Amino acid sequence: MAKPKIKYICSNCGYDSVRWLGKCPECDSWSSFVEEVIENNPRKITASTGKSSYKKISEIEATEEARIKTEIREFDRVLGGGLIPGSVILLAGDPGIGKSTLVMQAASRIKEKVLYVTGEESLQQIKLRASRLKVKSDTFYVAAETGLRNIIAAIEDLKPKVVIVDSIQTVYNSELENSPGTVTQIRECTAILMADAKKKNYSVIIIGHVTKEGAIAGPKILEHIVDAVLQFEGESKQSFRILRGLKNRFGSTNEIGIFEMHDDGLTEVKNPSELFINERDRNTSGSVVTSSIEGTRPLLIEVQALVTSSNFGNPQRVATGFDFRRLSILLAVLEKRGGYRLSANNVFLNMAGGVKIDEPAVDLAVCCSIASSLLDRVADSATVVIGEVGLGGEIRSVGHIEKRIQEAEKLGFRRIIIPQNNIKSVKHNSGIKVVPVESLTEAVTLILK
Ligand SMILES: Nc1ncnc2c1ncn2[C@@H]1O[C@H](COP(=O)(O)OP(=O)(O)OP(=O)(O)O)[C@@H](O)[C@H]1O
Ligand SMILES: [Mg+2]
Repeated sequence: MAKPKIKYICSNCGYDSVRWLGKCPECDSWSSFVEEVIENNPRKITASTGKSSYKKISEIEATEEARIKTEIREFDRVLGGGLIPGSVILLAGDPGIGKSTLVMQAASRIKEKVLYVTGEESLQQIKLRASRLKVKSDTFYVAAETGLRNIIAAIEDLKPKVVIVDSIQTVYNSELENSPGTVTQIRECTAILMADAKKKNYSVIIIGHVTKEGAIAGPKILEHIVDAVLQFEGESKQSFRILRGLKNRFGSTNEIGIFEMHDDGLTEVKNPSELFINERDRNTSGSVVTSSIEGTRPLLIEVQALVTSSNFGNPQRVATGFDFRRLSILLAVLEKRGGYRLSANNVFLNMAGGVKIDEPAVDLAVCCSIASSLLDRVADSATVVIGEVGLGGEIRSVGHIEKRIQEAEKLGFRRIIIPQNNIKSVKHNSGIKVVPVESLTEAVTLILK
């Protein structure tokens, strides 16, 4: 028998090489090459039958009602309204973040037949979790299985509407010579599951582990073939978790779902703004509330800054939950346009609650919080600050102004500082005072007590 050939595949992007490489020439990741066996007798592709089939688009029947609801509002929101039959969703997240908990809770609430395939835990362990989560469902089936053929056979037999695979790294196709978790296995198994799901019209949720660097393990190719990629993230020390859409063929990727982890599982956070701002200290300098739009809904977030004098030549700049480069730009604008001396100070910036914000509309709040900490003057805690800051220190308009104002008003804020150019589109301002500003210094003067 011929000796099997070996090749090396980048576990990040799928690039292959005959030699082991320290750095991938394709995606620049380090130590990502893993050894894979090349099959001596590659299987022939038999999917093509030689017959063509096409239809008029008007003759195809598909309705939004066909979506299968997970009955977890935050999960459905990120999915774009529920699971589309025949679609494949990749759910990725750090170890122990709560992926299995989330899918189990969804599985128990889905009104259709669900098959939960686990390769990581025994049926008894699954039952223990189910009891802790108080799962009661007659349509929820569990299989402790790792062989792809057996999984497909179980699906054939049970005919579920939703299949959950926990996790794709444990599933293997015995027709391949590679061990489970290798790039080839992950790619092949996903492709076979996907083809089966499209044929039998069931939805698949695939759980995937993330690598040390936080990327979804397995080839990037997996991200291309699946219909949606969801990332479950959170700080290990905090109880809340964020479900984020990284890709979605059937919905917006800006939507986020917010959950809180308790002993008896995950609960949806109905009013996230309250969660993010209720712990703030109203009498400390450096704290300013802003509004960011996540998907379609506004979120009020506390921006915290701490400015201290640096005893060393190189002052420190640390940003948590905010783009570091953006912080550097805003510091330069504050220095040049506002006259705030920051070059000899350490600046620490934090989006309270561990959220990540990449919206320019929070620029002005970042600048105000830095100025507040630098001058050690408390910012008005009943005011929300919104606006993008230009390099000239001018305040630029932002989108969804009405939604942001309404959210601030709903949470009892009395004043909101917005860009002058946005004032035209403000329709109502009953319970909250809307103050337009044109420049950075104007906003800082208004907010500091
Ligand atoms: N008995 C318990 N009481 C309270 N919380 C628990 C309990 N057991 C587990 N948890 C919480 O659930 C989390 C683990 O959840 P889960 O197993 O769903 O994570 P996972 O993302 O599937 O992990 P893995 O990557 O290991 O599969 C723990 O980090 C912990 O926060
Ligand atoms: Mg798990």
